[in-house]
Amino acid sequence: MRLAAQLVTSLGRIYGASGLVPVASVQVAGVSYRNLGAAGLEFLRDWANKGARARVPAMLNPAGMDLTAWRAHGIPEEFGRQQLEVIDAFRRLGVMPTCTCTPYLIGYVPRYGEHLAWSESSAVVFANSVLGARTNREGGPSALAAAILGKTARYGLHLDEARRATLVVDVECPLRSPADFGALGYLVGRMAGDGVPFLRLRKGPEELRAQADLLGSPYVPHLKAMGAAMAASGAVGLFHIGGVTPEARELGDDLIALGAVYVRIDDLSLAYRELGMGGGAVDIVSIGCPHASLAELTQAATILERQRVTRPLWITTSRAVLDEARRQGVLALLERSGATVMADTCLVVAPMRHFGFRTVATDSAKLATYAAGHCGLAARYGPLEVCLEAAVSGVMRGV
Ligand code: F3S
Repeated sequence: MRLAAQLVTSLGRIYGASGLVPVASVQVAGVSYRNLGAAGLEFLRDWANKGARARVPAMLNPAGMDLTAWRAHGIPEEFGRQQLEVIDAFRRLGVMPTCTCTPYLIGYVPRYGEHLAWSESSAVVFANSVLGARTNREGGPSALAAAILGKTARYGLHLDEARRATLVVDVECPLRSPADFGALGYLVGRMAGDGVPFLRLRKGPEELRAQADLLGSPYVPHLKAMGAAMAASGAVGLFHIGGVTPEARELGDDLIALGAVYVRIDDLSLAYRELGMGGGAVDIVSIGCPHASLAELTQAATILERQRVTRPLWITTSRAVLDEARRQGVLALLERSGATVMADTCLVVAPMRHFGFRTVATDSAKLATYAAGHCGLAARYGPLEVCLEAAVSGVMRGV
């Protein structure tokens, strides 16, 4: 408790925090043994041996493998055993091994205005922007310390003034698919840096404005794809969409900070080009970054009906969504087409270099941004249907 308090208060001092704030939940990133290594595992064991325990609901981000089917997926034995030891240490610390970046899709839904200490960037931006909760992008150790203390430092996105928009983006082009939203997020993230963009969508989709419950709406894939991309190409922790997201509905233009910069986007082709829009052969296809919802799995199963993939198609999701997909028969449909649905993990944190793939097709702008650096993969980027078509034919057509 003393170490956790020291960590949280030291960070608070660095960032000029006005004090501490109780948190309703914590999400801890830095779970993959690939990122933690032996030193990280030792740190977790040391804290667990000292008796540290989370005192608020605390969850884990994806690990480096599916925690049950990892051998079948070809994860090296040594890595697998060390990863399980990491999970065991987190369990002893009282952190639930949810291993997902979309806890809000499996029942851990923060309430409007609630303070959190979440750390995975796409989860942070979704919680802040779409749900109106308040969290900075915590590091793994600072999130763990917040779980043990039950509090985090009150600075940054916990404060009203830091939630005002610093960049106003008039989006003049139509947005058709989650991939379009991802491409937009990629452009906006680069312009916004760690600022707060306020999007004014001039050409719809109109139905987005009519959604009273964003989390229950068909726009979850669009919003999570866009937020994840903004956090990957920039360091955005919060965005607003005029008339759509909760704070923008409540405050409208009052959310725009004095001196905010105004820009206009009327074309997404630059983003598609930079993310890898060109056609060509693919070695592997990845869907589910951020983790896929049940609706996304169902959509993929429908598209793949009566088709068989010829390339590895890895669909990543949470354990809870995978179990529900199994109950509803969606998993069987996907597996019949040759897809592999994995829980608890994703390509960015898995030991991908071990597999020797060179090119990945993905509908995730975040994965396309990280593919080269984190996975050693060249990315081809496009909408879900185009990626699934590539899994069947082995060739991605240019979009
Ligand atoms: Fe989630 Fe992994 Fe993508 S943590 S947002 S699936 S990089």
